[in-house]
Amino acid sequence: MSGLLDWFDARFPLRKVAHEHALSYYSPKNFNAWYYFGSLAILVLFMQIVTGIFLTMHYKPDSQLAFASVEYIMRDVPWGWLIRYLHSTGASLMFVIIYLHMFRSLMYGSFHRPRELLWIIGSIIFVALMAEAFMGYLLPWGNMSYWGAQVIISLFTAIPYVGDALAQWIRGDFVIGDATLNRFFAFHVVLVPMLLLLLVFLHMVALHKVGSNNPEGIEIKLHRDENGIPLDGIPFHPYYTVKDLVGVVLFTFVYLGIVFFVPDMGGWFLEPDNFQVANTFHTPPDIKPLWYFTPFYSILRAVTYPLFGVAAKFWGVLSMGMSIGMIFLLPWLDRSPVRSILYKSPIFTWALGIFVVTFIMLGYLGGKNPSHTDLLFFTNVVWSQIGYFLYFGFFLLMPVYSKLGIVKTVGTRVQSK
Ligand code: HEM
Repeated sequence: MSGLLDWFDARFPLRKVAHEHALSYYSPKNFNAWYYFGSLAILVLFMQIVTGIFLTMHYKPDSQLAFASVEYIMRDVPWGWLIRYLHSTGASLMFVIIYLHMFRSLMYGSFHRPRELLWIIGSIIFVALMAEAFMGYLLPWGNMSYWGAQVIISLFTAIPYVGDALAQWIRGDFVIGDATLNRFFAFHVVLVPMLLLLLVFLHMVALHKVGSNNPEGIEIKLHRDENGIPLDGIPFHPYYTVKDLVGVVLFTFVYLGIVFFVPDMGGWFLEPDNFQVANTFHTPPDIKPLWYFTPFYSILRAVTYPLFGVAAKFWGVLSMGMSIGMIFLLPWLDRSPVRSILYKSPIFTWALGIFVVTFIMLGYLGGKNPSHTDLLFFTNVVWSQIGYFLYFGFFLLMPVYSKLGIVKTVGTRVQSK
């Protein structure tokens, strides 16, 4: 065995790469459960690719056949139902994981210098994941697939002058049709997954260049022993391979629990309208995207007034784009002298708490009829307008409030175990 490894090592830096980037990669000793989500994201990405390959073996990207081919997978293909539910549940759980992964970085200031590029690459991954999920959702050719895509693509018509032509170019037709389905299939199955794999690779390279942050936000690379090993670091293997395995086991229970017992998650992971084939003559009463898009969809629908003679729809689309754009800017918006929420002033903790409540509220409202009153006092659209200001307030006021209040003194060494 070692002879074989020597043979490889003479031609390829196998042992070196394995040691530097996995086995003896020194990670802070105080990672907590929030650090499970990176490895879980890799796991789910892998699951999506594997189950996706098997689905592609039976799926037909043709508007006349697509819906029936999914029914065929569910009813006639051996284990087809399992593969399909693993894929549809995996899509939603990927967003659960990614939102928690991003929230962890917000709490511990993991986007601060020198991790800005790591954060930017992560933000691009987030946009690519949204594109991947949006295009995948058209493929079963259900009624919500059809009308959801119709609404989102027609948003491009809000762009002055070029909007109509752009929407037509994206659809490849005057309406959503076979041409749209075929190109979305090509992007969903080939282009975006390849892009995601590349981006995740770059994300890891950037992470290993600067090293991991940790719950206390202390830079462990600054304090090393005589051999150059960080005093507060422990090798990734066996410590974090074993610890991450605990996360994998817990996650597997949740994942399979949903797949076996509630695969539609009460309409949250698979919507009732999508159990009917796309019908151009029957618009669903409430067209809404799946839960992971609804916070941004709420921001889009919160804008109801035309401004400077330009239609409200344009400002809605712009706001939605900007709400995602804000995420990219975080490293430059947070001016706090310390990284972690454990040391930041209570003002930041409150702002983050309000932001989380706002994000959940916007998510809830995005799935509801805007003119109904589902929360207290106001209609849903008024609540989403309140949410709109709180969402943007969190980001745009951050340069001010992140400097206010008294921060705790950060030591040079990690305190927690
Ligand atoms: C397919 C999607 C993604 C995968 C597979 C992935 C994977 C990982 C892994 C394995 C780690 C190291 C372990 C950990 O810190 O949890 C990590 C760290 C990190 N990721 Fe991601 N990630 C993804 C998406 C994102 C997104 C969308 C963002 C932000 C917008 C992001 C920002 C970060 C940051 C800032 C770190 C460093 C955290 C720290 O050291 O405290 N990642 N990622």
